[in-house]
Amino acid sequence: MLSILVVNGPNLNLLGSRQPEVYGHVTLADIEADLTELAAARGASLAFFQSNGEGALIDAIHAARGVHDAIIINAGAYTHSSIALMDALASVDLPVIEVHLSNIHAREEFRHRSYIARVAVGQIAGFGPLGYRLALEAAVDLLQRQAATGTKGPAS
Ligand code: DQA
Repeated sequence: MLSILVVNGPNLNLLGSRQPEVYGHVTLADIEADLTELAAARGASLAFFQSNGEGALIDAIHAARGVHDAIIINAGAYTHSSIALMDALASVDLPVIEVHLSNIHAREEFRHRSYIARVAVGQIAGFGPLGYRLALEAAVDLLQRQAATGTKGPAS
């Protein structure tokens, strides 16, 4: 069974009450419950991790090596600042799918740069909680293609 780690970074524990005009009213627990259901339908199992700390996020990414098959990550504001998180993702040799609830490219200039994007297969931004479902579909599709072709490259 495919195993995928879903990582959420700083302030995403406050989803539902945090700036609802930007991030909506859905909580992280709601998103995780919804994803668990979708994963079951796709024959995948999920693990979830959220932290507000850069070091804890890095440790969780390191621990995914040899345990999970892919990482879905919303790194929150660390997306735009953390070379350490980017390096951690690059170090574990797992496909990474980047998610953002908001369309970071339509917001302030400082949100346009993503260090995560440099090590991700792709990025999904602007679809709210649906983005996590799209990321899961992308991860499952990618892993199934890799298994079928024996390759590790991106879906073609
Ligand atoms: C976010 C976008 C980031 O710029 C912001 O710092 C967040 C949330 C998003 O999901 O839209 O914390 O990653």
